[in-house]
Amino acid sequence: MIHIPKSEYTRRRKALMEQMGPNSIAILPAAPVAIRNRDVEYLYRQDSNFQYLSGFPEPEAVIVLIPGRAHGQYVLFCRERNPERELWDGLRAGQEGAVRDFGADDAFPITDIDDILPGLIEGRDRVYSAMGSNPTFDRHLMDWINSIRSKADLGAQPPEEFVALDHLLHDMRLYKSASEIKVMRHAAQISARAHIRAMQASLAGLHEYSLEAELDYEFRKSGAKMPAYGSIVAAGDNSCILHYQENDALLKDGDLVLIDAGCEIDCYASDISRTFPVSGQFSVEQKAIYELVLASQEAAFAEIAPNKHWNQAHEATVQVITAGLVELGLLQGDVNELIASEAYKSFYMHRAGHWLGLDVHDVGEYKVGGEWRVLEPGMTLTVEPGIYISPSNMQVAKKWRGIGVRIEDDVVVTKNGCEILTGDVPKTVAEIEALMASARMSAA
Ligand code: GLY
Ligand code: MN
Ligand code: MN
Repeated sequence: MIHIPKSEYTRRRKALMEQMGPNSIAILPAAPVAIRNRDVEYLYRQDSNFQYLSGFPEPEAVIVLIPGRAHGQYVLFCRERNPERELWDGLRAGQEGAVRDFGADDAFPITDIDDILPGLIEGRDRVYSAMGSNPTFDRHLMDWINSIRSKADLGAQPPEEFVALDHLLHDMRLYKSASEIKVMRHAAQISARAHIRAMQASLAGLHEYSLEAELDYEFRKSGAKMPAYGSIVAAGDNSCILHYQENDALLKDGDLVLIDAGCEIDCYASDISRTFPVSGQFSVEQKAIYELVLASQEAAFAEIAPNKHWNQAHEATVQVITAGLVELGLLQGDVNELIASEAYKSFYMHRAGHWLGLDVHDVGEYKVGGEWRVLEPGMTLTVEPGIYISPSNMQVAKKWRGIGVRIEDDVVVTKNGCEILTGDVPKTVAEIEALMASARMSAA
């Protein structure tokens, strides 16, 4: 399994500590376990910032980074080994494992944190934490600070500054390293196979969930623990619901099916959308809309390169889609005026993409100093234009209604342009029809 090497976590912690002010401390909690219902937990997913700095997969853990601390800069609080609990719930790294396998300089039982952490904070001027994202943890942090304050008359020095960690960390996370891109490419390739599998399996009479099962099978078979977000398998009119989740409708001959799904590898997301005819052949109208979305995506790729800004790809999709909708008679008027009045938004209501990484909608600012961010090598993003013609849109001829198309790929900005990570899934009308026809031939 391809994953982030241990040395990279060390490098990330070092890079963060170099940016932290003098005499400071950073404190980050692991994601809490989420209860699904009585005695049943949701599948555990580590907090992305915590994962980024440690690769430590367990809940009930706290990372403490103390630049310059003589006895070790990286302290990890985590669960103690416990043969009985481990028999029921699985193995734990324990303090020894935290040091041996996860690079901690020092590790303590999480149950001792109230006794130990105030002493580590005491005397530091500045505390970095992800304020606001975990209210329970924020309260604990204030308790630890207050316990130092209560000893001020004995000479204890509480910190004076509290700084949100997000800004530093999110900027680091925006620039992907070679090993991050390797992991993301691997996730993208698995997801590409999953989409191909779903196209091959598509058949009128099956259900949306039948295709979701094909996706899940390929994800799990390839070692992905879970999808990066709830898979969208939307057939017919459902393709016009952007974040459709039910996935339980019947697949009907003549309908399109829009699949938006990607797996997660080592907590890195992939995010692919493809739209194809349930029975393998596009109608004239479906093909016209599909090819327009595809042309807009091609135009967007051409705008992704160093020194181009974040919004250029989106602007390119808006230009191509608006002009195309006029040509097809779905919008009437002057293209520039329709863009200025945002008339295209009744068909194309979302943006052309987002940053992609540990979070599917990854962290990182889209604007810097009020200006769109300039792209740089190593940034990873999605390119996902779409056109959705509502089944209840009475402004357009009936033949267009209920067609929803999104085409989404993941790219990394390179020195000269961009590399498409998800290019393994067929995308032209001819390629999709050929793949589906050959799947039917071999099934027959
Ligand atoms: N799957 C959510 C998105 O494409 O942004
Ligand atoms: Mn998507
Ligand atoms: Mn997306």
